[in-house]
Amino acid sequence: MSGPGDNAVAGGYLVSSMWWYAAYVLRPTQALKRAGLSPTRTEGDLPHEPLRSGLGPYFSRRHCEPVLLSRKTRHDDLVEEFDRMSEVYAEFVQPFSQPIFDEALTVIRNYLPGDARVLDAGCGPGRELMRVARLVPQGEVVGVDLAAGMVKTAHRAARAAGLGNCAFVQADVGELPIEFSGKFDLVYNCLAHHHYPEPAAAASSVLRCLRPGGVYCVIDPGPAWYNALSAPIAKWADPGWIGFHTPEGFRNLFLEAGFSRAAWFEILPGFGVAVGQKAAVRPAGARVKADRGVKARRAAESQPSGR
Ligand SMILES: C[S@@+](CC[C@H](N)C(=O)[O-])C[C@H]1O[C@@H](n2cnc3c(N)ncnc32)[C@H](O)[C@@H]1O
Repeated sequence: MSGPGDNAVAGGYLVSSMWWYAAYVLRPTQALKRAGLSPTRTEGDLPHEPLRSGLGPYFSRRHCEPVLLSRKTRHDDLVEEFDRMSEVYAEFVQPFSQPIFDEALTVIRNYLPGDARVLDAGCGPGRELMRVARLVPQGEVVGVDLAAGMVKTAHRAARAAGLGNCAFVQADVGELPIEFSGKFDLVYNCLAHHHYPEPAAAASSVLRCLRPGGVYCVIDPGPAWYNALSAPIAKWADPGWIGFHTPEGFRNLFLEAGFSRAAWFEILPGFGVAVGQKAAVRPAGARVKADRGVKARRAAESQPSGR
């Protein structure tokens, strides 16, 4: 049986190993990458083409306050610790997650027009979300998290930073709100996928929420060597840890969920961005028509909702 003292020891061990890895592996590799001295690899089928036109703001115009669940969910127990530590979480994790997200952005940016409508599925206290919101000034980012504390903390942080193009919704990624269906250009998550209790349900739920041709980016550990080394520590010390995927595992997960293409980009030792693309419903070469379709949807959404 484990008690609060054991949790503190495990948490301390996890944080110090993350900081150690960031200082001695991630940051130095990042510097080498910037100097062109650390080649990275890509595998699988890359998305067909970058999105040229985004769906623009919608949820941020309708929800100024966080939207919270009024009922318990099957998975609340898995995020209890995140709920409790939402105010201090970023201080412990950011030294580790920042270089990972820096590099992930070099991949994600390719799929982010300035008017993209984006979903962060497991936004935590919202640090990454705020960086993405600044990249899509004519678009928006919706932050989803199952922990109510994280949703409230992220909302406060975005408001304090003066960002109006964000909305925050409490939800389980495997059961995203029905109003999200077909409404996003890009869905991403950062270091959250290994906490999803039902990865296949999450992949299907995300696919439903993407527009045709939309892109899903998962930033998480990947290569088998890293997973094998870190899984025992994660299992012991990372609250609500479920499991890591390999690049091949992500590819199978995405294709089985119904994505039409799946790729994996290595970004730093042990970490990558798994990218899935939803099939476009149009024939190749019909981009102009498709962009007109996006504009028509935006015009329809900008009509008063009557609510
Ligand atoms: C390790 S944190 C990452 C937070 C943030 N993306 C970051 O990089 O700092 C994982 C987040 O995923 C959320 N989460 C876990 N399971 C979830 C689920 N089933 N649905 C939605 N969010 C979930 C947790 O509450 C937590 O805030």
